[in-house]
Amino acid sequence: MLQGGSGDRDSFGSKFGVIAAAAGSAIGLGNIWRFPYVLGQNGGGAFLVIYLLFIAAIGIPVMMSEFVIGRRAQLNAVGAFKKIAPGKKWHLIGLLGVVTAFIILAFYTVVAGWTLEYLIQSVKWMATSSKIGFSEMNNEAVRGFFSNHYETFVSGIWRPMLWFVVMMFFTGYIVMSGVKKGIERYAKILMPILLVLLLVLVIRSITLEGARDGLVFLFKPDFSTIREAPVRIILEALGQAFFSLSIGMGTLITYGSYIQKKENLASTAVNVAFADTFIAVVAGLAIFPAVFAFGINPGEGPELVYITLPVIFQSMSGGLIWAFMFFLLLCFAAITSTISVLEVIVAYFSEQLNMTRKRATLLATFSVGVLGIICTVSPDVFGIFNASPDLLLPFGGFFIVIFVGYFLGGRTTKEELSSEGKYKVGYHQLFLFLVRFVAPIAIAFLFALGVYSRILSIFPSIG
Ligand code: TRP
Repeated sequence: MLQGGSGDRDSFGSKFGVIAAAAGSAIGLGNIWRFPYVLGQNGGGAFLVIYLLFIAAIGIPVMMSEFVIGRRAQLNAVGAFKKIAPGKKWHLIGLLGVVTAFIILAFYTVVAGWTLEYLIQSVKWMATSSKIGFSEMNNEAVRGFFSNHYETFVSGIWRPMLWFVVMMFFTGYIVMSGVKKGIERYAKILMPILLVLLLVLVIRSITLEGARDGLVFLFKPDFSTIREAPVRIILEALGQAFFSLSIGMGTLITYGSYIQKKENLASTAVNVAFADTFIAVVAGLAIFPAVFAFGINPGEGPELVYITLPVIFQSMSGGLIWAFMFFLLLCFAAITSTISVLEVIVAYFSEQLNMTRKRATLLATFSVGVLGIICTVSPDVFGIFNASPDLLLPFGGFFIVIFVGYFLGGRTTKEELSSEGKYKVGYHQLFLFLVRFVAPIAIAFLFALGVYSRILSIFPSIG
């Protein structure tokens, strides 16, 4: 996938390579772990509607904007702004992105480590289950067994830390060798298999007794559930949309800088957003029918998927094999995302601070390693890190669209989006409208509301 591009910079070799890499970044734990639990906490169907709206009206324009900046400048997230807007403060957006990358990578890699625990446990569980007669246990007992395991595992220190270190090591190793090459080769095969496995899970899940309620929860919007905390829920939908698409912190500026001039940025963005959203919805379809069938609380929180999936596997013949394959692929999906986040930091270190790629990767991996270890010992730090993308990413996205809409402007964006006239850009006016008005106004408005309601909750007398 990485071929000699312009100068000595690497670039993606094929159209499919670009999409595979960007989709590999977008599709990950955000779709399969975070999306279902955030949706479950925030009222189901109504959340889904808002989420889809944000993907289309804000997510895709921001993604295109990042690609435009990155490919225009052919540099990392900080260098890109410095090159396009020399002597101005715009590069601070890139710097914020690098800081955000540290935070996201730290907690994300911890969760990625959980997949390894489950991989190992899927073997052990099924072995035990045959001994203690799982098939005779009722759902309640099965659920208790798994959530107990989750509790003891996550509240323990050493195992989560061990798996985190393993994942961090792999991530660093892959990024250091500059190898998106191998990863892409595997991604092309393994991502489709992950989808097939998800579809198998969907079939098992929706054929469970009592599954209907899950479908209703997921697809029948009930906006009254949002009324309780509309501002928080809408902001979380926005944050989740950004998180899932990997936008708002320069990941796709960095990846965009590896895209060749001849590629069509708009169709890439639409394809990636579509694939990402599709996987998230399919994950929801696999999880919620089972959640309701087994009487699990949809608002359970970050452990939702990790306690639901084992119960689904338990109810399948050959569950061991399915579980093993699933967690293996989930682990892989997580790695194609972690490397994209680490790449933001490494590209910055090596291009702006003149480090060798090796040194940059070691330093980045080590410092994220320290942050991640803190996440494994402190649930509070983990919680804060896990919640921060909801604010940080839309904040970054706001400045990215403003930069593209007003600083780069119509001519340059048209040039980039059309690949200098190679592609038709009938959507260009719509794009400008979205990046100049819709996206920034929506983000600013939601932020203002969020801050206001925060202040209100601290000083109720103001209201
Ligand atoms: N989008 C990925 C997921 O859904 C996670 C991720 C990768 C990410 N790169 C990112 C999130 C950049 C925010 C920003 O799993």
